[in-house]
Amino acid sequence: MPGDKSISHRAALIAALANGTSRLKNFSTSEDCAATLRCLAALGVLISQEDEDLLIEGVGLKGLHQPSVPLDSGNSGTTMRLLAGILAGQTFTSTLTGDDSLNTRPMQRIIEPLQMMGAEIESRDGHAPLTLQGHNPLQAIEYELLLASAQTKSCIMLAGLYANGRTTVIEEVPTRDHTERMLRWFGVTVEIGDAQREGEVFVAVTPPQNFDARDVEIPGDISAAAYFIAAAALLDHSVLEIAHVGINPGRALFLHYLKSFGLDVNIENVGELNNEPVGLVRVQGLQVLNRKSPTQSSQTINGTFVAGVIDELPLLAVVGSQLDGGIEIRDARELRVKESDRIATTVAGLRAMGAEVEELDDGLRVSGPIRLRGAEIDPRGDHRIAMAFTVAALIAEGESEITNPECVAVSFPDFFDLLSSVVER
Ligand code: S3P
Repeated sequence: MPGDKSISHRAALIAALANGTSRLKNFSTSEDCAATLRCLAALGVLISQEDEDLLIEGVGLKGLHQPSVPLDSGNSGTTMRLLAGILAGQTFTSTLTGDDSLNTRPMQRIIEPLQMMGAEIESRDGHAPLTLQGHNPLQAIEYELLLASAQTKSCIMLAGLYANGRTTVIEEVPTRDHTERMLRWFGVTVEIGDAQREGEVFVAVTPPQNFDARDVEIPGDISAAAYFIAAAALLDHSVLEIAHVGINPGRALFLHYLKSFGLDVNIENVGELNNEPVGLVRVQGLQVLNRKSPTQSSQTINGTFVAGVIDELPLLAVVGSQLDGGIEIRDARELRVKESDRIATTVAGLRAMGAEVEELDDGLRVSGPIRLRGAEIDPRGDHRIAMAFTVAALIAEGESEITNPECVAVSFPDFFDLLSSVVER
């Protein structure tokens, strides 16, 4: 699999602030991560390629230059939200913008804590373009996250590198912890523990004077692998092995759901790459349609479990259409403000393929099992919708057409080529 997108963003951003040159292996091929690299280049960071590796010449915590143009995050929420944390600690003014989709996504979630830390931020009513007048040092804060968002947490932690003391983020629902792991890999002090209230956790960053470059090998992207894993699990007689894939507990819940649905998915050869757990995922296909699910009742994904599968929910809805009792997804209102309104796009796609689906404010309910029918699917420019419905198309009867499929490049440019290479006709 291509390198993990979330981890690649963090590796590039943190390497850019280190002293010395970091070598990044298996860096994500996604357009999103290319946007992060372009923004870093505009901030004066030298980035080059050597063979398959990326070399990032870190400028040190205080070495970024004022960009002469607005920084374009493209479609990438991670680029914009994480970079905003770093820009908040600079002594210059900069502007972050994105494509039409990103410029309609909510940014108040990062504006509020960064303003508390002393940055001045102008926005279009809580949306990008954002103009940041940084401040140095920033005020260290203790901030309680009201919504489960690793991007918001990471934004505050990166701003914390420029603060006048220890910056703490308290999470009611733990989210992916790649920033914590990567900062520690680069030698930055990050404390993690249980917060006062039951179930809550805290992460705290102590600002370093500076830190040194490190080499990083990026694990394969579990969220990209998810489409292959689901397709193989649902297509009878398939056998698929994916090696060196990231199995961070904040990301691998998808695999546990598939197992709990009775699908044949296993993790083997567990190891570690620069603080990130990796393993080999082995999948065998079963004819699931009309099989009784182990629980004999509808499967539900809700509450604190949602954050762990936030990017896989459209795919889980597709898988749910094949399960006895279907699937219900609740407490997932965040899906409405992703690259598309993923509740609406998933409901529309499944209905077009003949599934019975109820759209809910904060999720959806899909009846199952049903034999999906081929249909024309408009992913509305959303890479994860295009890939989830490619899996649906593989298990459907008849032909499907995905319009503007090139949007998959946002996370996985080689998706269709790689899929064609493993699907038997
Ligand atoms: C990401 C966090 C998630 C996820 C996104 C990547 C990250 O977003 O949906 O694809 O790299 O931190 P939120 O943290 O906003 O939920």
